[in-house]
Amino acid sequence: MSEQHEANRAFWNASAEWWKEREDRRGLWRTCHENPSLVVSPAEMPFLQGVRGQAVCVLGSGDNEIAFALAGLGGRVTSVDISEQRLEIARERARTLGLDVDFVQSDVTDLRDLHDDAFALVYTGGHVSVWVSDLRRFVSEAVRILRPGGVLVISEYHPIRRLWLEAEGPRLGRRYFERGPYRYTTEEGLPTFEYHWTVSDHIQAAVDAGCRIVKVDEYGEETEGESWAESGLDKLPTYLLVVGKKDKERT
Ligand SMILES: C[S@@+](CC[C@H](N)C(=O)[O-])C[C@H]1O[C@@H](n2cnc3c(N)ncnc32)[C@H](O)[C@@H]1O
Repeated sequence: MSEQHEANRAFWNASAEWWKEREDRRGLWRTCHENPSLVVSPAEMPFLQGVRGQAVCVLGSGDNEIAFALAGLGGRVTSVDISEQRLEIARERARTLGLDVDFVQSDVTDLRDLHDDAFALVYTGGHVSVWVSDLRRFVSEAVRILRPGGVLVISEYHPIRRLWLEAEGPRLGRRYFERGPYRYTTEEGLPTFEYHWTVSDHIQAAVDAGCRIVKVDEYGEETEGESWAESGLDKLPTYLLVVGKKDKERT
């Protein structure tokens, strides 16, 4: 694991309790298996709803709301995250809900514990790619574990939002094409490393990994109420959706 990913792992482990409390207040993890549309957007739903009986994988699963929604839709879910602490919290929640989810601790750029051609669907999103230093390797691992004809869903916060990180008033804080790494230090003194992948970086990574792109969408106009997200973001897209099918010929 790279030094940057190791630092990010330590950060996610250290902040797991904080996220747990926030997610408990939101409460979605308790009901999203019964009502997947609480956490699956209308744009994503056509690609997730046919998973009954199929092996599916969520990469960078975090709060596991998508993983639980996929379990509720009948998928046989493998949930992958770099943070042992976040996985432990999700494992306990799955037990509470009676959901059968397989949890795997792994860096998404090295999924050696997962077999080639194993899954009908691989989903990642909700701020995962920003933590990953090598997007092409991440996506190529995601496609490696997909079966031929399987579906890759990348459902990220729109990269354009990152331009307003550390912005002052209407002045942009970041350049679109400056991928990073961006080093931050938490209040507790922990370093973290983030990356700004562009729209075309996500699409091209899927194409180069052997996917035929079947859907690209940009949608939503909400801000998250985060301090960095206040500057005119309500007029910009919130989400980027890239869906590919693993090419049968390249395998
Ligand atoms: C902002 S969350 C996104 C997931 C989910 N949408 C959520 O909001 O909880 C980012 C997640 O990615 C995980 N993560 C960060 N870097 C990773 C890596 N290199 N490999 C696997 N997981 C990673 C973190 O541990 C965290 O759970």
